[in-house]
Amino acid sequence: MKQDQSWWLFRRVRTTVLLASIAIALTRCIPSPDEAEEFRLPMSINEVMASLINHSADPIWVAAWRNPQSDRDWRELEHLARQLQLGGSLITIPGSGPVDTMWTGRSEWTEYANALSEAAGRAINAARSKDTELIGRAGDEIVDICESCHIDFKPDLPTMNIYGELSPTASDNR
Ligand code: HEC
Repeated sequence: MKQDQSWWLFRRVRTTVLLASIAIALTRCIPSPDEAEEFRLPMSINEVMASLINHSADPIWVAAWRNPQSDRDWRELEHLARQLQLGGSLITIPGSGPVDTMWTGRSEWTEYANALSEAAGRAINAARSKDTELIGRAGDEIVDICESCHIDFKPDLPTMNIYGELSPTASDNR
């Protein structure tokens, strides 16, 4: 083999080895589906429900009959609607609650959660355009979604003794 031929061969082999090690390094960085599933919220879905979802939804309902007065009120409402939208996404990820994984594994659960985020998106638009009627309409949609999911999924006894100020189910008058 001539010298420049073997040099060429050496370079090819070197490039191949380099590319292969880059590929291996990359697959190590990208989480496998199993690892991705292991990602969990640092709290239970019940806590997200009480402290974020319930907390942000309540003022949206109140707004429909107490007509926000100032720009500041509307801006606050917009932030809360965003929190609710985010809450809908968060509850598709299991947290530390005992049955969280069971819930998030059900397609109906994800549908309710997505519907919640979408309705919250409409509340954001209503707040941005300072439209009380639209806020009212988005609020009605939101309460229907809370209620339907609670009827389908909420256990009679809360899993973690967490009570919100209000928990929309027809039968629930604690
Ligand atoms: C995707 C389903 C789902 C949606 C949507 C949902 N919830 Fe919940 N919620 C639950 C489940 C399940 C529990 C019970 C959690 C537990 O016991 O660990 C719960 C618990 C609660 C609690 C805790 C207090 C209690 O009575 O146990 C409050 C408050 C609450 N939800 C409010 C709301 C509000 C307000 C909305 C709508 C803005 C809403 N939820 C939307 C599933 C849902």
